[in-house]
Amino acid sequence: MSRYSRIAGTGGYLPETVRTNYDIAKMVDTTNEWILERTGIFSRHIAAAHETASSMAEIASLQAIAESGRNAEDIDLIVLATSSPDRVFPSTACLLQQRLNIRNCASFDVQAACSGFIFALSVADQYIRAGNAKRVLVVGSEINSRLVDWTDRTTCILFGDGAGAVLLEVSDEPGVMSTHISSDGRYRDLLYLPSAPREKSCCGVGERYIKMQGNDVFKIAVNTLGKIVDETLAANHLEKSDIDWLVPHQANIRIITATAKKLKMPMDRVVCTIETQGNTSSASVPLAFNQAVRDGRIQRGQTVLMEAFGGGFAWGSALVRY
Ligand code: COA
Repeated sequence: MSRYSRIAGTGGYLPETVRTNYDIAKMVDTTNEWILERTGIFSRHIAAAHETASSMAEIASLQAIAESGRNAEDIDLIVLATSSPDRVFPSTACLLQQRLNIRNCASFDVQAACSGFIFALSVADQYIRAGNAKRVLVVGSEINSRLVDWTDRTTCILFGDGAGAVLLEVSDEPGVMSTHISSDGRYRDLLYLPSAPREKSCCGVGERYIKMQGNDVFKIAVNTLGKIVDETLAANHLEKSDIDWLVPHQANIRIITATAKKLKMPMDRVVCTIETQGNTSSASVPLAFNQAVRDGRIQRGQTVLMEAFGGGFAWGSALVRY
Protein backbone atom coordinates (compact mmCIF):
# COMPACT_ATOMS: atom_id res chain seq x y z
CA MET A 1 0.00 0.00 0.00
CA SER A 2 1.35 3.42 -0.95
CA ARG A 3 1.88 5.98 1.72
CA TYR A 4 1.11 9.66 1.21
CA SER A 5 0.44 12.76 3.27
CA ARG A 6 -2.74 14.82 3.27
CA ILE A 7 -3.76 18.12 4.83
CA ALA A 8 -6.04 17.27 7.75
CA GLY A 9 -6.46 20.78 9.21
CA THR A 10 -5.49 24.40 8.65
CA GLY A 11 -5.13 27.48 10.84
CA GLY A 12 -4.05 31.09 10.68
CA TYR A 13 -3.38 34.11 12.84
CA LEU A 14 -3.06 37.81 12.07
CA PRO A 15 -2.16 40.36 14.75
CA GLU A 16 -4.84 42.86 15.71
CA THR A 17 -3.08 46.07 14.73
CA VAL A 18 -3.52 47.10 11.09
CA ARG A 19 -1.17 49.58 9.41
CA THR A 20 -2.58 51.11 6.22
CA ASN A 21 -0.76 52.82 3.37
CA TYR A 22 -2.05 56.11 4.77
CA ASP A 23 -0.28 55.35 8.07
CA ILE A 24 2.96 54.59 6.19
CA ALA A 25 2.64 57.78 4.14
CA LYS A 26 3.00 59.62 7.45
CA MET A 27 6.29 57.79 8.12
CA VAL A 28 8.07 57.88 4.71
CA ASP A 29 7.79 59.76 1.42
CA THR A 30 5.13 57.66 -0.33
CA THR A 31 1.43 57.63 -1.16
CA ASN A 32 -1.42 55.14 -0.89
CA GLU A 33 -1.82 55.31 -4.69
CA TRP A 34 1.85 54.46 -5.39
CA ILE A 35 1.87 51.46 -3.05
CA LEU A 36 -1.51 50.13 -4.22
CA GLU A 37 -0.67 50.47 -7.90
CA ARG A 38 2.86 48.97 -7.72
CA THR A 39 2.19 46.22 -5.20
CA GLY A 40 -1.57 45.64 -4.69
CA ILE A 41 -1.10 46.19 -0.94
CA PHE A 42 -3.39 48.48 1.04
CA SER A 43 -2.75 47.36 4.62
CA ARG A 44 -0.80 44.86 6.69
CA HIS A 45 -0.98 43.49 10.23
CA ILE A 46 1.68 44.44 12.78
CA ALA A 47 2.49 42.27 15.79
CA ALA A 48 2.14 43.73 19.27
CA ALA A 49 5.27 44.13 21.41
CA HIS A 50 4.51 40.98 23.43
CA GLU A 51 4.01 38.78 20.36
CA THR A 52 6.69 36.56 18.81
CA ALA A 53 6.91 34.09 15.93
CA SER A 54 6.24 31.24 18.40
CA SER A 55 3.25 32.93 20.06
CA MET A 56 1.60 33.57 16.69
CA ALA A 57 2.49 30.05 15.53
CA GLU A 58 0.78 28.65 18.63
CA ILE A 59 -2.56 30.27 17.76
CA ALA A 60 -2.43 29.14 14.12
CA SER A 61 -1.36 25.63 15.16
CA LEU A 62 -4.12 25.19 17.75
CA GLN A 63 -6.65 26.03 15.03
CA ALA A 64 -5.11 23.55 12.58
CA ILE A 65 -5.04 20.81 15.24
CA ALA A 66 -8.66 21.48 16.27
CA GLU A 67 -9.77 21.49 12.64
CA SER A 68 -8.12 18.11 12.04
CA GLY A 69 -9.98 16.52 14.96
CA ARG A 70 -6.66 15.36 16.44
CA ASN A 71 -4.90 16.28 19.67
CA ALA A 72 -1.56 17.97 20.12
CA GLU A 73 -0.10 14.72 21.52
CA ASP A 74 -0.85 12.96 18.21
CA ILE A 75 1.84 15.09 16.53
CA ASP A 76 5.17 13.38 16.04
CA LEU A 77 7.10 16.14 14.24
CA ILE A 78 7.00 19.95 14.05
CA VAL A 79 8.61 21.72 11.09
CA LEU A 80 8.43 25.49 11.35
CA ALA A 81 9.53 28.02 8.74
CA THR A 82 10.62 31.46 9.86
CA SER A 83 13.16 34.16 9.11
CA SER A 84 12.20 36.04 12.26
CA PRO A 85 12.80 33.48 15.01
CA ASP A 86 12.20 34.30 18.68
CA ARG A 87 15.77 33.26 19.40
CA VAL A 88 18.67 32.07 17.24
CA PHE A 89 18.42 28.89 19.28
CA PRO A 90 16.53 26.95 20.48
CA SER A 91 14.50 26.77 17.30
CA THR A 92 11.13 28.50 17.16
CA ALA A 93 9.69 25.03 16.45
CA CYS A 94 11.05 23.90 19.82
CA LEU A 95 9.48 26.92 21.54
CA LEU A 96 6.20 26.09 19.80
CA GLN A 97 6.45 22.49 20.98
CA GLN A 98 6.74 23.75 24.56
CA ARG A 99 3.76 26.09 24.10
CA LEU A 100 1.67 23.20 22.77
CA ASN A 101 2.86 21.02 25.64
CA ILE A 102 3.93 18.22 23.31
CA ARG A 103 6.56 15.75 24.52
CA ASN A 104 8.54 13.11 22.66
CA CYS A 105 8.40 14.72 19.26
CA ALA A 106 11.17 16.21 17.12
CA SER A 107 10.88 19.88 16.21
CA PHE A 108 13.09 22.02 14.04
CA ASP A 109 13.08 25.18 11.93
CA VAL A 110 13.47 25.47 8.20
CA GLN A 111 14.84 28.71 6.81
CA ALA A 112 14.12 29.41 3.16
CA ALA A 113 12.93 33.03 3.48
CA CYS A 114 9.58 33.58 1.72
CA SER A 115 9.57 30.01 0.37
CA GLY A 116 9.97 28.57 3.88
CA PHE A 117 6.50 27.06 4.13
CA ILE A 118 6.83 25.18 0.81
CA PHE A 119 10.23 23.86 1.95
CA ALA A 120 8.77 22.85 5.34
CA LEU A 121 5.82 21.13 3.64
CA SER A 122 8.22 19.28 1.36
CA VAL A 123 10.29 18.06 4.33
CA ALA A 124 7.16 17.00 6.23
CA ASP A 125 5.78 15.16 3.20
CA GLN A 126 9.05 13.22 2.80
CA TYR A 127 9.01 12.20 6.48
CA ILE A 128 5.48 10.88 6.19
CA ARG A 129 6.03 9.10 2.85
CA ALA A 130 9.19 7.46 4.19
CA GLY A 131 7.26 6.09 7.16
CA ASN A 132 9.15 8.19 9.71
CA ALA A 133 6.22 10.30 10.87
CA LYS A 134 2.43 10.03 10.96
CA ARG A 135 1.33 13.55 11.84
CA VAL A 136 3.43 16.62 11.20
CA LEU A 137 2.61 20.17 12.17
CA VAL A 138 3.88 22.48 9.40
CA VAL A 139 3.98 26.18 10.23
CA GLY A 140 5.09 29.49 8.72
CA SER A 141 5.32 32.37 11.21
CA GLU A 142 6.89 35.79 10.71
CA ILE A 143 7.31 39.13 12.42
CA ASN A 144 8.61 41.00 9.39
CA SER A 145 7.77 44.35 10.96
CA ARG A 146 10.87 43.88 13.16
CA LEU A 147 13.08 43.15 10.16
CA VAL A 148 12.24 46.17 8.02
CA ASP A 149 13.66 49.65 8.25
CA TRP A 150 10.60 51.86 8.75
CA THR A 151 12.51 54.78 7.20
CA ASP A 152 13.16 52.88 3.93
CA ARG A 153 10.20 53.38 1.59
CA THR A 154 11.42 50.75 -0.86
CA THR A 155 10.95 47.89 1.62
CA CYS A 156 8.74 48.95 4.56
CA ILE A 157 5.65 49.19 2.36
CA LEU A 158 5.80 45.52 1.42
CA PHE A 159 5.84 43.39 4.53
CA GLY A 160 3.43 42.27 7.26
CA ASP A 161 3.19 39.86 10.18
CA GLY A 162 1.22 36.63 10.68
CA ALA A 163 1.28 32.86 11.01
CA GLY A 164 -0.29 29.97 9.11
CA ALA A 165 -0.28 26.25 9.88
CA VAL A 166 -1.39 22.91 8.48
CA LEU A 167 -1.56 19.51 10.11
CA LEU A 168 -0.26 16.95 7.65
CA GLU A 169 -1.17 13.32 8.25
CA VAL A 170 -0.51 9.94 6.73
CA SER A 171 -3.01 8.76 4.12
CA ASP A 172 -3.52 5.96 1.57
CA GLU A 173 -4.14 8.51 -1.15
CA PRO A 174 -2.53 11.85 -2.04
CA GLY A 175 -2.88 14.47 -0.48
CA VAL A 176 0.30 16.12 -1.35
CA MET A 177 0.88 14.97 -4.93
CA SER A 178 4.36 16.43 -5.32
CA THR A 179 6.63 19.14 -3.98
CA HIS A 180 9.45 20.83 -5.88
CA ILE A 181 12.05 22.98 -4.15
CA SER A 182 15.13 24.71 -5.44
CA SER A 183 17.62 27.44 -4.59
CA ASP A 184 20.43 29.41 -6.17
CA GLY A 185 22.86 31.24 -3.89
CA ARG A 186 24.25 33.33 -6.75
CA TYR A 187 21.42 35.75 -6.00
CA ARG A 188 22.25 36.13 -2.33
CA ASP A 189 22.85 39.88 -2.61
CA LEU A 190 19.55 40.81 -4.26
CA LEU A 191 17.40 40.11 -1.20
CA TYR A 192 18.83 39.51 2.27
CA LEU A 193 18.84 40.25 5.95
CA PRO A 194 22.46 40.91 7.04
CA SER A 195 22.26 39.65 10.61
CA ALA A 196 19.91 37.66 12.79
CA PRO A 197 17.40 39.75 14.72
CA ARG A 198 18.93 40.57 18.09
CA GLU A 199 19.55 43.36 20.55
CA LYS A 200 20.18 46.77 19.01
CA SER A 201 23.61 47.11 20.55
CA CYS A 202 24.94 43.94 18.87
CA CYS A 203 25.31 45.33 15.37
CA GLY A 204 25.28 48.56 13.43
CA VAL A 205 22.03 50.16 12.38
CA GLY A 206 21.40 49.14 8.80
CA GLU A 207 22.79 45.65 9.47
CA ARG A 208 19.52 44.67 11.03
CA TYR A 209 17.15 45.29 8.15
CA ILE A 210 16.02 43.62 4.95
CA LYS A 211 17.96 44.78 1.87
CA MET A 212 16.43 44.33 -1.54
CA GLN A 213 16.98 45.15 -5.20
CA GLY A 214 13.23 45.17 -5.82
CA ASN A 215 13.32 45.49 -9.58
CA ASP A 216 15.72 42.57 -10.13
CA VAL A 217 13.85 40.41 -7.64
CA PHE A 218 10.63 41.15 -9.47
CA LYS A 219 11.91 40.07 -12.91
CA ILE A 220 13.57 36.87 -11.73
CA ALA A 221 10.54 35.95 -9.59
CA VAL A 222 8.17 36.23 -12.55
CA ASN A 223 10.43 34.11 -14.80
CA THR A 224 11.17 31.47 -12.19
CA LEU A 225 7.57 31.04 -11.07
CA GLY A 226 6.48 30.68 -14.69
CA LYS A 227 8.95 27.81 -15.10
CA ILE A 228 8.11 26.08 -11.83
CA VAL A 229 4.39 25.87 -12.52
CA ASP A 230 5.16 24.16 -15.86
CA GLU A 231 7.55 21.73 -14.14
CA THR A 232 4.99 20.91 -11.46
CA LEU A 233 2.25 20.17 -13.97
CA ALA A 234 4.60 18.07 -16.14
CA ALA A 235 5.75 16.01 -13.13
CA ASN A 236 2.11 15.09 -12.44
CA HIS A 237 1.04 14.68 -16.10
CA LEU A 238 -1.56 17.39 -15.61
CA GLU A 239 -2.85 20.17 -17.83
CA LYS A 240 -3.25 23.77 -16.73
CA SER A 241 -7.02 23.26 -16.76
CA ASP A 242 -6.69 20.51 -14.10
CA ILE A 243 -5.78 23.06 -11.42
CA ASP A 244 -8.73 24.34 -9.42
CA TRP A 245 -6.90 26.91 -7.30
CA LEU A 246 -3.62 28.77 -7.34
CA VAL A 247 -2.37 29.71 -3.86
CA PRO A 248 0.68 31.87 -4.51
CA HIS A 249 3.14 33.54 -2.18
CA GLN A 250 1.88 37.08 -1.71
CA ALA A 251 4.77 39.41 -2.60
CA ASN A 252 3.33 41.67 -5.29
CA ILE A 253 -0.02 41.50 -7.11
CA ARG A 254 1.80 41.98 -10.41
CA ILE A 255 3.94 38.86 -9.79
CA ILE A 256 0.77 36.92 -8.88
CA THR A 257 -1.09 38.11 -11.97
CA ALA A 258 1.82 37.17 -14.24
CA THR A 259 1.91 33.63 -12.82
CA ALA A 260 -1.87 33.27 -13.12
CA LYS A 261 -1.68 34.42 -16.74
CA LYS A 262 0.99 31.83 -17.46
CA LEU A 263 -1.36 29.19 -16.01
CA LYS A 264 -4.33 30.66 -17.91
CA MET A 265 -6.09 30.89 -14.53
CA PRO A 266 -8.78 33.56 -14.15
CA MET A 267 -8.08 35.70 -11.08
CA ASP A 268 -11.20 34.38 -9.33
CA ARG A 269 -9.39 31.00 -9.06
CA VAL A 270 -6.35 32.66 -7.46
CA VAL A 271 -6.34 33.17 -3.71
CA CYS A 272 -5.14 36.72 -3.01
CA THR A 273 -4.64 38.10 0.48
CA ILE A 274 -2.02 40.65 -0.45
CA GLU A 275 -4.31 43.68 -0.30
CA THR A 276 -4.91 43.36 3.43
CA GLN A 277 -1.88 41.31 4.56
CA GLY A 278 1.10 42.40 2.45
CA ASN A 279 4.02 39.99 2.24
CA THR A 280 4.10 37.79 5.36
CA SER A 281 7.03 35.72 3.98
CA SER A 282 6.76 32.08 4.99
CA ALA A 283 3.29 32.65 6.49
CA SER A 284 1.70 33.90 3.29
CA VAL A 285 0.91 30.59 1.56
CA PRO A 286 -0.60 28.81 4.63
CA LEU A 287 -2.51 31.99 5.56
CA ALA A 288 -4.00 32.26 2.07
CA PHE A 289 -4.77 28.53 1.97
CA ASN A 290 -6.43 28.67 5.39
CA GLN A 291 -8.53 31.67 4.40
CA ALA A 292 -9.84 30.02 1.23
CA VAL A 293 -10.59 26.76 3.06
CA ARG A 294 -12.47 28.60 5.81
CA ASP A 295 -14.54 30.78 3.49
CA GLY A 296 -15.53 27.70 1.49
CA ARG A 297 -13.72 28.46 -1.76
CA ILE A 298 -11.30 25.51 -1.58
CA GLN A 299 -13.28 22.27 -1.23
CA ARG A 300 -12.18 18.73 -0.38
CA GLY A 301 -11.08 16.85 -3.52
CA GLN A 302 -9.95 19.96 -5.39
CA THR A 303 -6.47 20.39 -6.84
CA VAL A 304 -4.43 23.27 -5.48
CA LEU A 305 -1.10 24.61 -6.72
CA MET A 306 0.94 26.45 -4.11
CA GLU A 307 4.10 28.33 -5.09
CA ALA A 308 6.61 30.70 -3.54
CA PHE A 309 9.77 32.64 -4.32
CA GLY A 310 12.13 34.54 -2.05
CA GLY A 311 15.59 35.31 -0.69
CA GLY A 312 18.37 32.91 -1.67
CA PHE A 313 16.94 32.85 -4.17
CA ALA A 314 14.88 29.92 -2.94
CA TRP A 315 11.67 28.87 -4.62
CA GLY A 316 9.26 25.99 -4.69
CA SER A 317 5.83 24.60 -5.39
CA ALA A 318 3.47 22.00 -4.01
CA LEU A 319 0.61 20.33 -5.80
CA VAL A 320 -2.04 19.25 -3.34
CA ARG A 321 -5.33 17.42 -3.63
CA TYR A 322 -7.24 18.88 -0.70
N1 COA B 1 6.78 55.37 -2.79
C1 COA B 1 7.02 56.20 -3.80
N2 COA B 1 8.05 56.04 -4.66
C2 COA B 1 8.84 54.97 -4.47
C3 COA B 1 8.64 54.03 -3.42
C4 COA B 1 7.56 54.28 -2.55
N3 COA B 1 7.27 53.47 -1.53
N4 COA B 1 9.58 53.07 -3.50
C5 COA B 1 10.36 53.37 -4.55
N5 COA B 1 9.92 54.51 -5.14
C6 COA B 1 10.45 55.18 -6.31
C7 COA B 1 11.89 54.83 -6.57
O1 COA B 1 12.75 55.64 -5.80
C8 COA B 1 12.01 55.09 -8.05
O2 COA B 1 12.18 56.49 -8.22
P1 COA B 1 13.15 57.05 -9.39
O3 COA B 1 12.54 56.55 -10.68
O4 COA B 1 13.07 58.52 -9.19
O5 COA B 1 14.48 56.46 -9.10
C9 COA B 1 10.64 54.73 -8.60
O6 COA B 1 9.75 54.73 -7.47
C10 COA B 1 10.58 53.37 -9.27
O7 COA B 1 11.24 52.42 -8.43
P2 COA B 1 11.32 50.90 -8.79
O8 COA B 1 12.11 50.20 -7.74
O9 COA B 1 11.77 50.76 -10.23
O10 COA B 1 9.77 50.50 -8.71
P3 COA B 1 9.08 49.15 -9.07
O11 COA B 1 8.00 49.36 -10.03
O12 COA B 1 10.09 48.07 -9.37
O13 COA B 1 8.37 48.77 -7.70
C11 COA B 1 8.68 47.24 -5.88
C12 COA B 1 9.13 48.54 -6.53
C13 COA B 1 9.54 47.01 -4.67
C14 COA B 1 7.24 47.40 -5.50
C15 COA B 1 8.82 46.07 -6.90
O14 COA B 1 10.07 46.12 -7.51
C16 COA B 1 8.63 44.74 -6.28
O15 COA B 1 7.59 44.42 -5.75
N6 COA B 1 9.65 43.89 -6.38
C17 COA B 1 9.57 42.54 -5.87
C18 COA B 1 9.80 42.59 -4.41
C19 COA B 1 9.52 41.30 -3.78
O16 COA B 1 8.68 40.58 -4.21
N7 COA B 1 10.23 41.03 -2.69
C20 COA B 1 10.01 39.91 -1.89
C21 COA B 1 10.21 38.67 -2.64
S1 COA B 1 9.72 37.40 -1.61
